[in-house]
Amino acid sequence: MRKPVIAGNWKMNMSPNEAKILVTELIPLVKDAKCEVVVCPPYIDLAAVKPILEGTNIKLGAQNVHWAEKGAFTGEVSAAMLKELGVSYAIVGHSERRQYFGETDETVNKRARAALAAGIIPIVCVGESLSQRENGETDALVTAQVTLALDSIPASDVERLVIAYEPIWAIGTGKTATKEQANETIAVIRAAVRSLYGEATASAVRIQYGGSMNAANATELMSMGEIDGGLIGGASLKAADFSKVVNY
Ligand code: 13P
Repeated sequence: MRKPVIAGNWKMNMSPNEAKILVTELIPLVKDAKCEVVVCPPYIDLAAVKPILEGTNIKLGAQNVHWAEKGAFTGEVSAAMLKELGVSYAIVGHSERRQYFGETDETVNKRARAALAAGIIPIVCVGESLSQRENGETDALVTAQVTLALDSIPASDVERLVIAYEPIWAIGTGKTATKEQANETIAVIRAAVRSLYGEATASAVRIQYGGSMNAANATELMSMGEIDGGLIGGASLKAADFSKVVNY
């Protein structure tokens, strides 16, 4: 069975000192979680929180990763650098990166491959805009996004990675997808993985829901058969809120 994974995407929030306080508060609140627990602070906080997370059940994630080993890529961070800091997961292809920073399906694929090569589990984000949903384009879009993101990645790696279904219209808006909508689109994503890799890989890959997921709706979302966890934005910034999602 797939072990659910609930990850907090802090986005551009929390200074190193604030990050230390947040994880220190979080540790006792999530120590008995049945799911995997991940926090993804800004790069600049990773070194500050890592020693605090040592020996706990909270894993460290980054919010991005570059595909090159090193070189003239100002402002970027390599997978090996993250690995050295004890990072286990890296979000790739978040819709905010696609929208504001020119991320494409091709660069998402390159980032995911670089993460895997370094032993970091990518959390590959896909999801449609409101107009795409209204035009009936959701299934084709997420299928294409997943197919391109996984290009040249072998089944053994796909079985380890995480896909996050994040409808753009539900991010930061307080408008959650219904549990049926989330479950249906995640089933479409799993079907795409099945047609590319077969049943064993499709039933192993973990697919999260993200988009205004919080303490009030986590239980019902997590009750759905296809939903293997959550990628949490706003509700991951307070220990009490995030712990309620984790302990859904
Ligand atoms: P919110 O939970 O704030 O809607 O953000 C979701 C998200 O984008 C997580 O990556």
